[in-house]
Amino acid sequence: MFDSYWMPFTANRQFKHSPKTLTTAKGIYYQSSDGKKILDGISGLWCCNLGHARPEIADAVNKQILNLDYATAFQVGNEPAFKLANKLVELSNTSSATNHLKNVFFCNSGSEAVDTALKIALAYHKANGEPQRTILIGREKGYHGVGFGGMSVGGLENNKKQFLPLLSNVDHLPHLLDIEKNSFSKGMPKFGLDKLEYLEILVQKHGADKIAAVIVEPFSGSAGVIIPPLGYLEKLREITRKHGILLIFDEVISGFGRVGNLFAAQRWNVQPDMITMAKGLTNGVIPMGAVMIANYIHHKLMHGDQKYIELFHGYTYSGHPVASAAALACLDIYQKENLFTKAIELENYWQEQLHSLKDLPNVIDIRNIGLAGAIEFKPPHQDLSTLYAYNIFTNCFNNGLLVRHTGDIIALSPPLVINKSEIDLLISILKQALIFQACNIVD
Ligand SMILES: Cc1ncc(COP(=O)(O)O)c(C=O)c1O
Repeated sequence: MFDSYWMPFTANRQFKHSPKTLTTAKGIYYQSSDGKKILDGISGLWCCNLGHARPEIADAVNKQILNLDYATAFQVGNEPAFKLANKLVELSNTSSATNHLKNVFFCNSGSEAVDTALKIALAYHKANGEPQRTILIGREKGYHGVGFGGMSVGGLENNKKQFLPLLSNVDHLPHLLDIEKNSFSKGMPKFGLDKLEYLEILVQKHGADKIAAVIVEPFSGSAGVIIPPLGYLEKLREITRKHGILLIFDEVISGFGRVGNLFAAQRWNVQPDMITMAKGLTNGVIPMGAVMIANYIHHKLMHGDQKYIELFHGYTYSGHPVASAAALACLDIYQKENLFTKAIELENYWQEQLHSLKDLPNVIDIRNIGLAGAIEFKPPHQDLSTLYAYNIFTNCFNNGLLVRHTGDIIALSPPLVINKSEIDLLISILKQALIFQACNIVD
């Protein structure tokens, strides 16, 4: 049964040696193929913020398929896509950080959203009379998906090394992980603002008028929940604005309630020129991504003879009516159940529970923000690197908890509908897995 499927971002041979499969899901629990109930500690993969099997989404999808299952978005429109774009703009309008984002471009994933935003940045500068602005700046340890654009601005070397060479018009800011100075910080750490000085060095190196855009995740999710220091995002905005450089926030993970607002930009009141999103937009039920774009960027591109296409970009499934219907149903649930702000309400409790694991063996850092967190380990032997967190992941899975392991890190992002006693359960399964792994090594 397992032979044909080449699984993504997976050690396929290791998986097929001891397969783990999920068969059903409801609320915050999965069921595995051997009948175990498994608490979803990572919202699927940072996407099922509303919990699983929500009937409201299922009904909306079902209704939409029977009504209009597909329509091209090239030169023909469909109602749900227009409604969804309006709804996203309406929701963004409530904050001064995002009330300038007046247009939405739809795609199917976070990777496509990132490549779309990078292309819009380049097209904007050309339309704005600055065609020489072509340099794109990302950040070390950043993850922006797997397209060639996103991979290039991304900063995870393992994701790039098999596919070199990538885009050459790219540079990177230093990453923000500093376990020596910031270990066990609660929320935003104190140290690291000085790392932004490197942006001025990059400006000197390339020339301010050559840089098109800086793209960052408000906090790095895939690299293991790396949170920027206090004041970093504000300062980043200040420097980019000073030099006429566009700022793109990749909110594929940080959006849709993960840090207590629709977007992380709103929490820290920073105005990006574009926001990329996916995942929580449709609760992971139907693939969909989007870019929200500042009115002045859109305006610049709506020029020239009206019969010509303004942006030669789009996907067969852009503004898919069924995905749009799913997203509209999701946004209704976020609003009705006050889930955009739920992570703020639970943040302190989540933080204290997570940091209660601080003194367990081999734990060298715990990081948290909103309803996200990570635990980093220093395995006692070099040859246990990666395997240490993998063993914890396996132990958790066998005992009823799904976590994400990456390198020597366990990452967590439970659904926003989790309650305090379920957080307790999550932490207790994780704690016994950490103790078991530590004891196993000592033995
Ligand atoms: C910040 C960020 N950008 C982009 C992506 C890529 O999204 P997708 O896997 O939907 O292409 C991810 C995926 O985790 C992400 O975390």
